[in-house]
Amino acid sequence: MVRILALESSCDETAAAVVEDGRRILSHVVASQAELHAQFGGVFPEVASRQHLRAFVPVVEQALKQAALRLAEVDAIAVTRGPGLPGSLLVGVNFAKGLALATGKPLLGVHHLEAHIYAAWLHFAGEQPRPEPAFPLVVLIVSGGHTELILMEGHLRYRRLGGTRDDAAGEAFDKVARLLGLGYPGGPAIQQAAAQGNPKAFAFPRARLAGSWDFSFSGLKTAVLREVRRLEQAGRPLPVADLAASFQAAVVDVLVEKALAAVQHFDARALLVTGGVSANTLLRTRMVQEAPVPVHIPPLALCTDNAAMVGAAAQRRLEAGFVDALDFDVMPTWALWELPRPEAVGSPNP
Ligand code: KG4
Ligand code: ZN
Repeated sequence: MVRILALESSCDETAAAVVEDGRRILSHVVASQAELHAQFGGVFPEVASRQHLRAFVPVVEQALKQAALRLAEVDAIAVTRGPGLPGSLLVGVNFAKGLALATGKPLLGVHHLEAHIYAAWLHFAGEQPRPEPAFPLVVLIVSGGHTELILMEGHLRYRRLGGTRDDAAGEAFDKVARLLGLGYPGGPAIQQAAAQGNPKAFAFPRARLAGSWDFSFSGLKTAVLREVRRLEQAGRPLPVADLAASFQAAVVDVLVEKALAAVQHFDARALLVTGGVSANTLLRTRMVQEAPVPVHIPPLALCTDNAAMVGAAAQRRLEAGFVDALDFDVMPTWALWELPRPEAVGSPNP
C-alpha cells in the first residue's frame, strides 16, 4: 500500500490530498481563490502566490487529518511542478521540498496535464473503483490554459495529435463570460446562463480546420464580440442567455466532433475527457451519448484543479521508477510530450 501526500498550486486553487495506490482518495481539500480574483475578472498572479502562502499549511493539515494520517505515515510527497503560474508553482514546490526534506520521503514533481489525465483513474474512498480506461486511448484535455488532443498507447506514453492554435477552450469561456458581464470563472457562469437560452439563436462559427487535429477558438470569441457590439449599437438589450447557449453549443460541437473523429481514425478503445471544461454538462452528455467507445470523464470535483489527481499521476511515475532530486526548478511552460517515457529509467513497461 502506497500513500502519497500531493500538493497543487499551479493557478488559483490551493489543494492537498492523500491518495492510496494511485486510485483511492483518502482525503481531498481544495481552497479556491476564485472569489478573491473575481474583482479582477481573472487570476492576478501575485495575489495568487501570496494566497497560496497563507493557505498551504492549513490545507495540508486538513488533508492529513481527513485521511487520519500523520505526516510520517505517508510514503511519498508529490507536487505540481508545471505548467502554470511561476509564482504559484514556486510556493507549492518549495513547501513540498520542505516536507520531503523534513521527512526523508521521496519527492515527485508532477506535470499538471498528466495529473488531469490520471484524475480519470481516481475514486473516493467508500465508493467503487471506476472502470479503468483501455489503451489505445484518445485523450481530450480542455482547461483554462490548455486544449490538447492526445493519443495514449499505454501508461505515461503520449502522442500529441493537435491542440489549440490560439485560445484554450476554458479561456474562450472565461473571455466570453466577461464580455457578457457574467464574471469569473466563466465556464460555470456561461453554463448556467445557457440553460435558459436557445443554442440556435445565433449561428456562431465552428472552426473545423479540416485535415488537422488542431482547434481554434479566437474566431468564435471575435464573432460573439461583434454580435455584442452590434446589439449594443442598435440599443438592444443583450440576450445573454441566447448568446451564452449559442457560444457553448459552438465550442462543444467542435470538441465533440474532433474527439470522436480521433477515436475513429486511431481505432481507439476508449475516450478520456478531462480538465476544467470537462465539468461542462453539455460536453459530458454529448460525449457519452455520441462516442462509440466507453467515455471516461472524472467526477465533477476532480475535473477542475485538485491535488488528488497529482497523487494519482505521481503514483504512476513512482511505479515506473521516477523520483526527483530536491533541487528541481518549476516548469511554468512544459509540454506533456517532453516528459521522459517509462523506459528512460529502465523500468519494465507499466
Ligand atoms: O483545469 P482547470 O481548473 O484549470 C486549469 O488548469 O486551467 O480549468 C479551469 C477552466 C476555466 O477556464 C473555467 O472557466 C473552465 O475550466 N470551466 C468550465 C466549467 N467549469 C470550469 N467551462 C465550461 N463549463 C463548465 N461547467
Ligand atoms: Zn488544470
